[in-house]
Amino acid sequence: MPRAIKEAHNGRSDALVIFGATGDLARKMIFPSLYQMVRRGNLNEPIVGVAREGWSVEKLLERARESIAASCGDIDEATFAKFAGLVRFVPGDYQDPSTFTRLGEALSDRRRVLYYLAIPPSMFASVTAGLKQANLANGARLMVEKPFGRDLYSAQELNRVLHAVFKEDDLFRIDHYLGKEAIQNLLYFRFANSFLEPLWNRNYIDSVQITMAEDFGVEGRGRFYEEVGALRDVVQNHLVNVLLLLATEPPVNALSDDLIDEKVQVLKAIRPLEERDVVRGQFEGYRTEPGVATDSRVETFVAVRLYVDTWRWQGVPFYIRAGKNLPVRATEVVVRFKRPPLEVFDPIRPGEANYMRFRLGPEVSIGIGARRKANGGEMVGEALELTAVSDGMDNMLPYERLIGDAMNGRRQLFTREDMAELAWQIVEPVLEASTAPSLYKPGTWGPKEAMAGFEPVGGWVDPKS
Ligand code: BG6
Repeated sequence: MPRAIKEAHNGRSDALVIFGATGDLARKMIFPSLYQMVRRGNLNEPIVGVAREGWSVEKLLERARESIAASCGDIDEATFAKFAGLVRFVPGDYQDPSTFTRLGEALSDRRRVLYYLAIPPSMFASVTAGLKQANLANGARLMVEKPFGRDLYSAQELNRVLHAVFKEDDLFRIDHYLGKEAIQNLLYFRFANSFLEPLWNRNYIDSVQITMAEDFGVEGRGRFYEEVGALRDVVQNHLVNVLLLLATEPPVNALSDDLIDEKVQVLKAIRPLEERDVVRGQFEGYRTEPGVATDSRVETFVAVRLYVDTWRWQGVPFYIRAGKNLPVRATEVVVRFKRPPLEVFDPIRPGEANYMRFRLGPEVSIGIGARRKANGGEMVGEALELTAVSDGMDNMLPYERLIGDAMNGRRQLFTREDMAELAWQIVEPVLEASTAPSLYKPGTWGPKEAMAGFEPVGGWVDPKS
């Protein structure tokens, strides 16, 4: 019998308020997700957009239509009409108390509102204070976007700001990677298949590698990127989260906070990074991007080696690499097993050992790397990968899943306060690089010389396009 999902107290939210409704995130991710939720019958509550003056509900809907068409293809007019019927708009400055008075009027009898801060963290304090002063925070939930701080101190500060108004149980810190189908499947695949259990530990696994490659640069976001760099942008959050799903112990109840507690145990066991466990790169041409300093030392590529000091993982290196302007766009995990104890037939080199490959995006697949006898008279082998490709049809968008969960008060896919702070502690010692990153040519796998020897036994597996 599946255990019951622990619903948060007071049930489902009865309205969704989006601060930053005219921003890029709302356009690219949030509106298409809300449309999909309406299409599936998962959203019937009012959606209130808040943003600066000069916009109207008509203009907002026009923009939403464009982004829905771009993301979801053909628009179903009946669904769009239903979606449009839910949308309201409150223009105003976040510093101005009258904005919150008008928001209160738009929310009238709502008791369990979900507020979504799709705005820069520097504005969180004025919005949460405005909500409190207008008496709009009681019984409400708050969802916040990444980046959650830029180091441990600023994350703690941010937590203080949010906790001044909202209880931890009502806070939902987003990492959109956790809303992805393929990443959910990592957990499912590990704990719903018994054949993995005996193997999934230091006795059989030699190394784990996670690659997040993007075949584009910073795409006009140079100013933002200068503040973060690859380590802060995707490693401290998205890729550490992938590692946690690979390394966690099975939770007693996967649908409760037990899963978060298990992840916290892993986070506590990860050794904070040291300089020798990091390689940084910068693609040639980055410094001429708009918004980028001509002497920028920000890394657009990073590779790190992490160790999880637990009984299960002692001595197994977890390598992560991520970068912009690499040869392909792909996020992939390769778990490499140890070689057989004896070479009964032909030699098996380290890179030819068995492996499990999880392609997490944009295409999704699972592969099992094995060896078989090659045709012919000799007992010599060849590599074989058994691959299952997901058709990805009608997948839930990550934000669709996450907004739905937050409305229902389900916290498992969100970052709890202690998780955010522990994840910063891991990268904290290497956040400020003492030397400039090594340059690499766009379209290559990072800085070749700096990466020489920085690899798991058997080498990196470059995802294919
Ligand atoms: C974001 C980063 O969080 O994730 C971007 O800020 C990155 O730099 C993006 O491109 C990648 O997300 P996805 O879902 O396309 O892998």
